[in-house]
Amino acid sequence: MITIIGAGKVGTSAAAFMMIKELDDILLIDIIENKPQGEALDLGHAASILGLSVDIRGSNDFKDMAGSDLVIVTAGFPRKPGMTREELVDKNAGIIADIADKILEYAPNAVVMLTTNPLDAMTYLMYKRLGWDRSRVIGFSGVLDAGRLAYYASKKLGISPASIVPVVLGQHGQAMFPVPRLSTVLGKPLTELLKPEEIEEITKETVEAGGTITKLRGYSSNFGPGAGLAVMAEAIKKGYNKAFIASVYLDGEYGEKDVVAEVPVILGKGGMKKIIELPLTDEEKAKFHEACESIRKLVASIDPKYFKRE
Ligand code: 2OP
Repeated sequence: MITIIGAGKVGTSAAAFMMIKELDDILLIDIIENKPQGEALDLGHAASILGLSVDIRGSNDFKDMAGSDLVIVTAGFPRKPGMTREELVDKNAGIIADIADKILEYAPNAVVMLTTNPLDAMTYLMYKRLGWDRSRVIGFSGVLDAGRLAYYASKKLGISPASIVPVVLGQHGQAMFPVPRLSTVLGKPLTELLKPEEIEEITKETVEAGGTITKLRGYSSNFGPGAGLAVMAEAIKKGYNKAFIASVYLDGEYGEKDVVAEVPVILGKGGMKKIIELPLTDEEKAKFHEACESIRKLVASIDPKYFKRE
């Protein structure tokens, strides 16, 4: 069973995409009374119409996640127009600490994936509070940032985004940096396919994408995150050993220790199987380090009480 904690827009979109893929039965948990039950009912009707064999339930009781092998955490405050992801750190740290304790109690063998912002800092907090092997605690958003880079590049090139292998590293936040030099169409780098000003444009669009959506429609993205969660969940549930950009705990990779940042990883049974280290130029290394430092600064601003269980 897949448990999704947080039956808001991201949680329910993830549930919808996972349902279409018939990955497993789905449990939606939310603290708002009746909300997860109502969402589950609507999704259940959709499953019935589409002829899918998936059971979708809603609950306000964390106990119900017992036996889940994959827990997806979408709970927390989303950003409002004009806000950065980083501004959410104080609001969401307590929520993540509470949820970590529920997971420890009811789903101690699960793989945990997070979408709560600021993503890398919240994944670090979850990792520390759970005290598990890093392979089982994965921050989601790199696949979203990479998907956005492929989207913007595809518009310029007139080539399907499915034919672009996009690389975005660092932070799911202001210090994220797309790497067009390593993003290719069947081995040909974007830097050889697009003009420098076009590269600059798609880089900016990728970094600003989440903010652009929030500004345009008044609330932050949900379909992109939902789709990203579904493809990552699929790789984990089915043991595909597939490559994604994701936020994981680094222990020396890319010259960084004791920080969670966006890097290429392989996902399969049991979660993160491997971190892929790409050959970065000195300038890219400096940008990666800058992103890690900005994540460390956010982590340092989290109240220490959230890192330890009483
Ligand atoms: C985004 O980039 C919400 O952080 C998320 O859209």
